[in-house]
Amino acid sequence: MKILKIAGSAGFGLVLSTGVALAATPALYTAAQAKAGAGVYAQSCAMCHGADLKGGAGPDLLGQAFAAPSNHYTIGAIFSEVAEQMPAGQPGSLTHEQYDDVMAYLLQKNGYPAGAKPLDYSATLKSGAPLVSQMK
Ligand code: HEC
Repeated sequence: MKILKIAGSAGFGLVLSTGVALAATPALYTAAQAKAGAGVYAQSCAMCHGADLKGGAGPDLLGQAFAAPSNHYTIGAIFSEVAEQMPAGQPGSLTHEQYDDVMAYLLQKNGYPAGAKPLDYSATLKSGAPLVSQMK
């Protein structure tokens, strides 16, 4: 009885802390994707969104000026904008892999951690998970 009780409460604690961590900043991409994405960004996005992601001809892609909680952005909505509307003027001109990589880079710059599972093109388009920048 005593053992069961301990196991039960330990299990609950684990679920709770994992749930909180996931709700805040899930790992949605690999470090290799973000690294490749930095190159895609420099070549295809920086001229409009700024080398520092702080905007130019295109809007800010960093911090609260981009993805504040009140914007109610989702991962899927922003990835759709990137993969289907960007680069503005040449929408859809990059490969799926390049879009995955540049999205990984945007997430990394906005405070999302890298993980073991690569960002997947089709699944990410459909993701209803919130996109909230962890940066100021
Ligand atoms: C020729 C200029 C230009 C280029 C190049 C460009 N963008 Fe944009 N981008 C814009 C403009 C203008 C908007 C806002 C209007 C719109 O949504 O079409 C925008 C909007 C966005 C948004 C939505 C921002 C928001 O807060 O809703 C994202 C995300 C984005 N761009 C990412 C990218 C990425 C990633 C690339 C590179 C693959 C890229 N853009 C290349 C001009 C550009």
